[in-house]
Amino acid sequence: MKVLVTGVEGQLGYDVVKRLNLLGIENIGVDRTDFDITDKEQTEAYIFDCKPDVVIHCAAYTAVDKAEEEQGLCYAINVDGTRYISEACKKIDAKMLYISTDYVFDGEGTEAQKEDKPTAPANYYGYSKEQGELLVKELLEKYFIIRTSWVYGKNGNNFVKTMLKLGQTKDEISVVNDQVGVPTYTPDLAVSICDMLQTTKYGTYHVVNEGYCSWYEFVVEIFKQAGINIKVNSIPTSEYPTRAKRPLNSRLSKEKLDKNGFNRLPEWKDALKRYLDEL
Ligand SMILES: NC(=O)c1ccc[n+]([C@@H]2O[C@H](COP(=O)([O-])OP(=O)(O)OC[C@H]3O[C@@H](n4cnc5c(N)ncnc54)[C@H](OP(=O)(O)O)[C@@H]3O)[C@@H](O)[C@H]2O)c1
Repeated sequence: MKVLVTGVEGQLGYDVVKRLNLLGIENIGVDRTDFDITDKEQTEAYIFDCKPDVVIHCAAYTAVDKAEEEQGLCYAINVDGTRYISEACKKIDAKMLYISTDYVFDGEGTEAQKEDKPTAPANYYGYSKEQGELLVKELLEKYFIIRTSWVYGKNGNNFVKTMLKLGQTKDEISVVNDQVGVPTYTPDLAVSICDMLQTTKYGTYHVVNEGYCSWYEFVVEIFKQAGINIKVNSIPTSEYPTRAKRPLNSRLSKEKLDKNGFNRLPEWKDALKRYLDEL
């Protein structure tokens, strides 16, 4: 089996390739320097030449706030790019794993959102990822859509690293306490992705670490585990306006994961501990 991983220079792609190497699965990690996914010819030429059995599509436009102003670029990468990769997969009969997000949901309610809940994104990034999902479903039969949330990993910038930096320079910070979700550690997510790709249990899954918290609770735990003494104030979303609206409830149900016999990921606090050790 040969696996092609897009976005290898990003957080998730990096750890997926690491996991594939550990499992001894032949793989090629690619990024912008290999081909630009918004260029149909380049994308097709690379994939047809490489002829992978599986494509794990981790590359994406991920700047959630900036996307509100750069809608054209966000669409080109997350929708057109996904289309070109899906079409190429169809032509060579490769499986495709498309990484998606909690932001495809409106975040209404307090329960964990089921895999088949109708999507209704609250911001442009979420809309672009939703459109990518729809294309994958329309064009392919052999696909996995894997929705995840609040991603952090060693290779790239993320919320945890930002908080650790703030912890060096500030005595006090304010963090929203009414948005809940699940911080997800890329090596844990990579384990699940690599389990799935070896099966034919196609469909849409939610894969996040266990438990859930608010951003405020996440930050308190980051500083606690990192041994940083800083005052953290709890504020409502209304006191922290952002360009892109965020869903209040990002909890995701793991019903499909359980039903198909895939392992759940470890608790988010345990994952955070391993991440801080890794850093
Ligand atoms: N980060 C999160 O909190 C989060 C939450 C839920 C879901 N997700 C999804 O999880 C997946 C992985 O996220 P991540 O955090 O690992 O993303 P990331 O660190 O931002 O990495 C994305 C990678 O995609 C590459 N890329 C962007 N445009 C490209 C293009 N036109 N051609 C080729 N490569 C291109 C980027 O390269 P450049 O650096 O050169 O642009 C980067 O290496 C994405 O599908 C994302 O939507 C992320």
